[in-house]
Amino acid sequence: MMKTHRIPTICLTALLAAAASALLVPGRTAEASGEEGRPAPRSEYKGRRIAQTMSFHGAPWLIRPERDREENTKLLIKALQVKEGQTIADIGCGNGFYTLQLAELVGPNGRVLAVDIQPEMLAMLDERASEAGIENIEPILGAPADPKLPAGAVDVVLLVDVYHEFSYPERMLTAMRASLKPTGRIALAEYRMEDPSVPIKLLHKMSKKQILKEYRANGLKLVHEFDELPWQHLMFFGRAD
Ligand SMILES: C[S@@+](CC[C@H](N)C(=O)[O-])C[C@H]1O[C@@H](n2cnc3c(N)ncnc32)[C@H](O)[C@@H]1O
Repeated sequence: MMKTHRIPTICLTALLAAAASALLVPGRTAEASGEEGRPAPRSEYKGRRIAQTMSFHGAPWLIRPERDREENTKLLIKALQVKEGQTIADIGCGNGFYTLQLAELVGPNGRVLAVDIQPEMLAMLDERASEAGIENIEPILGAPADPKLPAGAVDVVLLVDVYHEFSYPERMLTAMRASLKPTGRIALAEYRMEDPSVPIKLLHKMSKKQILKEYRANGLKLVHEFDELPWQHLMFFGRAD
């Protein structure tokens, strides 16, 4: 059972029986919506078309057995260099593929703030964490423009295959930047746009050039790159000030 804010489990059987793939077939159906008083969500940012939110119906694809082989997810986690006791924010955590593994790595003195805008994803995460007996995950129902993170408290903000879906990229970058400890980093994983052999739709890929354009414009600087993943860029950003 997770530590706080338990979310009622919904009909998981029906969810998991849904679409087997979200990125390889049409599956992104739930357009992120704005909140009252906010500007309309963006459909484009700095020349990049923004992808729709991946629906929770595609969640089984995120925990497919071949994911580790295809994306070398273990290597991605190793590259994060997570330490015991740290606070990690897994933004766009989905059904918790990375969240659960990170929770084990930070141990009982650390915590993973698991943020998603779809309560159905958090319900699936809750079920999986309960089954695994993991108690140091704090689920957070974020808003499309606000991850609802504590200020200055996070060691690593992890974004795996989600940034390209943000309909308010500037607001999300500002909020994630504010959540970082002085030594904190945003770790961004996105499918490589430059590589036609990566079998993902173009709308769900990003180039390094585009990533740098967007992050630098929002007070973030590149501090490290890890180029060994089979499908993804992995880029680490810190505060530019
Ligand atoms: C393609 S899934 C990736 C899930 C997970 N990171 C993984 O790699 O298994 C993208 C997730 O990001 C979530 N998402 C999209 N926009 C978001 C936002 N502004 N804040 C938090 N989560 C968001 C979606 O609801 C979806 O669950």
